[in-house]
Amino acid sequence: MNMTTYKVALIPGDGIGRDMVAAAWLVLQKAAGPHGFGLEGADFPWSCAFYKETGAMMPADGIETLRGFDAILLGAVGWPAEVPDSVSLHGLLLPIRKSFVQYANIRPHRLLAGVEGPLKATAFDILCIRENTEGEYSGAGGRIHQGTADEVAVETSIFTRKGVERILRFAFEQARGRRKKLASVTKSNAQKYSMVFWDDVTKQLSAEYPDVEVTSYHIDAMAARMVMAPEMLDVVVASNLFGDILTDLGAAIQGGLGFAASANINPERNAPSMFEPVHGSAPDIAHLGIANPIATVWSGAMMLEHLGEKDAAAAVMKAIETVTASGIGTVPGKHKTDTITAALLAAL
Ligand code: IPM
Ligand code: MN
Repeated sequence: MNMTTYKVALIPGDGIGRDMVAAAWLVLQKAAGPHGFGLEGADFPWSCAFYKETGAMMPADGIETLRGFDAILLGAVGWPAEVPDSVSLHGLLLPIRKSFVQYANIRPHRLLAGVEGPLKATAFDILCIRENTEGEYSGAGGRIHQGTADEVAVETSIFTRKGVERILRFAFEQARGRRKKLASVTKSNAQKYSMVFWDDVTKQLSAEYPDVEVTSYHIDAMAARMVMAPEMLDVVVASNLFGDILTDLGAAIQGGLGFAASANINPERNAPSMFEPVHGSAPDIAHLGIANPIATVWSGAMMLEHLGEKDAAAAVMKAIETVTASGIGTVPGKHKTDTITAALLAAL
């Protein structure tokens, strides 16, 4: 028999990222077997500890090494007490997203069975699509006259037609596959070049997707809407910075960062995509064994889906909801990571 085996690069990273990837990997392995495919993991210790040892977050050929994998599962990057975030993130996470043109960052926001969010609304299902390679996080800028009274810092947002069109097109496609409603997040009342351009491209593309109802919202109004009327939203598409902020809000309304999954997708599939929880390394709870692995497991389900293993992905999601419906892993800190992981394995 010829069984498909996917090669997955595992980058646990820092803090709770290590436990989360270990837990998720057990669950994904268990899901693979009965669905007739294999998962072969390769561990990469790239992290702030690695930086302390070697002076770099990953080896010089790190990107080339990862290129040969079918997918990347990442835990968390950052240990600010020892390595500044501006160094660690720009040495590992961000170069992976950019080098592999993972321009679509997908983050689902809905309440899992048994999870209580902070809002009155309980029946919402939002898919945030965040532009992941340019915009406000392009990294174009500099500082001059450093440390003097004349110091100047500039950080330029870069919006290219190619970049804006492809993320909006991706979002229209996602909306088409769901409830056919797209919210395009803008701020064209204040940002008269980049965001007016974003709105123009939104309008141009909407002609190609007459079946998708598209509405533009200013970022500030969208923040309020996600709290006041999240059930009105379906697919939400935003630039890098706006999407970053909105998806932490999304995590909050779905009960917290312990439930917030994400996928960094290269839609053209000419390089691996990367799957990671939205949360960071959480130094404050890193040694307590109480971090919730559900965000990483859910990200792993998104990985299986991306690899084309839809049944296994659905089985993992079902296991997650069986566990949360039973009250395990729904309240921060109440259950140990190991307890939640064991429950997920049992549910599978
Ligand atoms: C996220 C994170 C990262 C981002 C940071 C750590 C650079 O906040 O994935 O949302 O802004 O992309
Ligand atoms: Mn963020």
